Amino acid sequence: MYKEIIEQPLTIHKAYFGRILDNKIAFETLSFSKADLKKFKNIIIVGCGTSWHAASFGALMLQEIAQIPTTFEIASEFRFKNLFITEETLVIAISQSGETLDTIAAVRAAKDKKGKVLGICNVQNSLLTREADSCLFLDAGPELSVCSTKAFTSQITVLTLFSLYMAELKNRAVDVEKILFELQKIPQKIKLIFKSIDHIKKIAKKYQKFEHFFFLGRHYMYTTAMEAALKLKEISYLNANAYPAGEMKHGPLALAGDHLATVGFCANEKTYDKTLSNLIEVKARGSLILALAPENAKGIQDIADDIIWLPKTIDELSVFPSTVAGQLLAYFIAKERKTDIDKPRNLAKSVTVE
Ligand code: M6R
Repeated sequence: MYKEIIEQPLTIHKAYFGRILDNKIAFETLSFSKADLKKFKNIIIVGCGTSWHAASFGALMLQEIAQIPTTFEIASEFRFKNLFITEETLVIAISQSGETLDTIAAVRAAKDKKGKVLGICNVQNSLLTREADSCLFLDAGPELSVCSTKAFTSQITVLTLFSLYMAELKNRAVDVEKILFELQKIPQKIKLIFKSIDHIKKIAKKYQKFEHFFFLGRHYMYTTAMEAALKLKEISYLNANAYPAGEMKHGPLALAGDHLATVGFCANEKTYDKTLSNLIEVKARGSLILALAPENAKGIQDIADDIIWLPKTIDELSVFPSTVAGQLLAYFIAKERKTDIDKPRNLAKSVTVE
């Protein structure tokens, strides 16, 4: 897992390399024509686990940047729902392995309803690549650790490019150049996080004694909160619950206390102030607060007990640095707890059964 975390500057680069030419996006393996893509009226993104978290990011991007009605669904629920799918629906199926049975079942259900399927996959010649109408590859190299890391950041790279591609097709007023420029700076920014590894190790030592965690974030940071909480659950066997931070007062706040640590994801400028208010609420109930915040952010020092500073980027890409820091936090907590990190109990790398 550690090797795969550290590979990410390279794997993110590989996911966009050759797909950005003179600030234009091109997908060599996309077999849908521009005319086909223009016809889609709605998009549904499906996946399981980490790939579902990538789907949540993709839905925000496609909705906000390309302004196409887009939702995301857990693949194992997909076939039981009577979702609105027609021949003008694009279903994007995300799977690192391309072998996850629930995702394949969702693909088949979508095709039964005449939806068109675009796979986003890491493994060439996998089942998904054969069943989808078209496929975009991550090119991240084999991911061996059960806990998915580099596949996620490659998935969100491809989803960023695809959202921008759709925005251009639909003539949306979006600064594509700016987002592409920022995307190409992400690998360098991830390398900066690696300079904080000693600090993250110290924080892991302090927080590993907690059995219960809240992982809180809003807007793009909710994706990160879900993904970082899953990492911690999988490899540390700790009870980490992710919530959109605004939900606290609707129930979960009853759990807060000094037995519970809160990890607050504050890298999204749009929701920064609101997230800080939510963190104050949990702190007032005795919870220790670890914040992941962009460098030079104001106000968080007065609230958080500990801070992991992140390189700043635009809101749309804020998931990249904060998720990598979340992966490292989970990894070092698991190391402290001496678990079998690459083969956590009860889990398999690919889930090919229902
Ligand atoms: O191969 P897939 O992306 O389809 O796998 C989906 C999930 O099983 C996978 O992401 C799982 O949640 C990981 N172990 C998370 O780290």
